[in-house]
Order: sequence, then C-alpha cells, then structure tokens
Amino acid sequence: MASGSTHARHLYHHCLLQLLLLLLPCQQFASHLVDGGGIPTTLDGPFTPVTRAFDRSLRQGSADVPLSDPRLAPRARPPCPEQITLAASAEPTSLWVSWVTGRAQVGTHLTPLDPAAVRSEVWYGERAGHHLRVATGSAEVYSQLYPYPGLLNYTSGVIHHVRLVNLTPSTRYYYRCGDSSLPEGGLSDERSFRTLPAPAPDAYPRRVAVVGDLGLTGNSTSTVDHLAKNDPSLILMVGDMAYANQYLTTGGTGVSCFSCSFPDAPIRESYQPRWDGWAR
Ligand SMILES: *[C@@H]1O[C@H](CO)[C@@H](O)[C@H](O)[C@H]1NC(C)=O
Ligand SMILES: *[C@@H]1O[C@H](CO)[C@@H](O)[C@H](O)[C@H]1NC(C)=O
Repeated sequence: MASGSTHARHLYHHCLLQLLLLLLPCQQFASHLVDGGGIPTTLDGPFTPVTRAFDRSLRQGSADVPLSDPRLAPRARPPCPEQITLAASAEPTSLWVSWVTGRAQVGTHLTPLDPAAVRSEVWYGERAGHHLRVATGSAEVYSQLYPYPGLLNYTSGVIHHVRLVNLTPSTRYYYRCGDSSLPEGGLSDERSFRTLPAPAPDAYPRRVAVVGDLGLTGNSTSTVDHLAKNDPSLILMVGDMAYANQYLTTGGTGVSCFSCSFPDAPIRESYQPRWDGWAR
C-alpha cells in the first residue's frame, strides 16, 4: 500500500529527533565564543522582546542538493552506525540516542532487513575512553510500498533507539553506539554530549536555538553552521526536514509543485532515500 501510516511513523520518529542536543563538534569549537560575541544567553536577560520585520529578500528559496553531493553520502560502511542523533528526553537525566545500520533499498521485490539481527547498544561513561555502562534499546525498519506499475518500493535501514536514563545533569558523557557483538566495525567512534542542567531558578539551557524548514538544500549547511557558532545548549527543530515528497519514487530532481510537474502520477509519491541523507 502507499502506506500513509508507515510514512507518518517515520515522520514521527524524525519528529522525536527534532529536539537535538548539541552534537560534539559544535560544542568543541563554540566553547571560546561563550558570552563574548554573538547572541546573548538567557542568563544575560531579561530582555525586551525584539521583533524583526520579515525580510523578503531572504526568501529566495534554495534548491535541494542532489543525493550525489558528498555531504549526503553514507558516512559509515555497514555494519557501523550512521546518522547518529541525540534527542532530549523527559528530563535532564535521560537522553535518546538513535542511529541507522545497514543500507536502505529502493526497487522491486525488496526483502526488508531484519531488525532483530543487530543489537541496539550504547556504551557510555563520564571519562573519554571509559564506557563502563551499557544501555540497550530497540530497532525497527519501515517500508514504503506502492502497488502501482512503474513506481518503486523502499525499505529502510535498521533504525535504532536507545534511551539513556539516570544520567547526572550538567555532565559530559562519552559514548559509542552500535553492536559490540560484531567482530569488527559494529560500534561507532567515540562521541560526547553534555546533559542539560537540573531545573532551578538560575539553571536552564543558556541558549535555545529554534529552526524550521531546514531541508537538505544548498543553504542547510550554512544554517546549521550558524546555529553551531552560537553555541546553543539545545536545538528545537520544528520541521520540515527532508522534502522527500517533492520527488518521484525513481528519484531524479525534486520539484516545487508535485502535481504541476507530474500530473499523471497515480498518487503523491515520495523518494524516501532523501531521509537517509539526514544527519550524515
Ligand atoms: C544558498 O543556496 C544558493 C543555491 O541554492 C547559493 O547560491 C547560495 O550561495 C547559498 N547561500 C548560502 C549563504 O549558503
Ligand atoms: C511494492 O510492494 C507492493 C506491495 O507488496 C507490491 O504490490 C508491488 O508490486 C511492489 N512493487 C514493486 C515495484 O516491486
């Protein structure tokens, strides 16, 4: 079926990922910008709210980068994890880690990957190189199947989710994720994150960045770089993220108006591999 529900489910998972905690590289080079230049922190307030007039000259649109762009190429060779993403959970003592293993497939008569065949583990600790604790989670795949001649089906890589709990607030953790039972390459390189502070009158995220409609366009990278330079403690991503539904199932070039460009399409198609460029 042209499965609205599996598509929605995938979108839901990406929405979960929208509360991205800072990725390591951003925090590393941002640490010397703290409070000096750029956008003030919440702790420097309170401020009178500032409203900027909408600048139409900034709304020129930006075309999707093709999947052949090196920035969207797979970063890891299976079975190594890729698209590793952090998301805030209910409190500063917990955090979601998500990633993908295996390759998505597009074509005919596909056999989905088996999510039970690979473990979902996060090894972590408070000292670099010392990952003394392990948390396990769950894995799934989703498929987008179209019963129309000429349209291709899609089945995803294995999508893993692990929730870390009982973390200490305001603390840096070092972690690797993946499957430690594999003989080689099952775990990612070491990465790190810092947990949010425990809520208190003088302890809260110093800068919260909000971004929407990020896409995978010629301007997404400069937007993300701009966010990172301002050293946010938390990024709230409100979507949209990848415009997979501006494409035919056969890929090609995305269009701004699907029904205008493809009036004969039997259904609104989408090219799910656009999602797979996310967080690479
Ligand atoms: C935005 O993208 C367009 C191409 O789509 C490019 O010409 C322009 O330089 C980009 N601007 C920035 C700031 O990256
Ligand atoms: C896609 O999957 C559907 C449902 O299983 C099937 O009817 C259809 O033939 C498949 N399409 C291709 C191109 O394999």
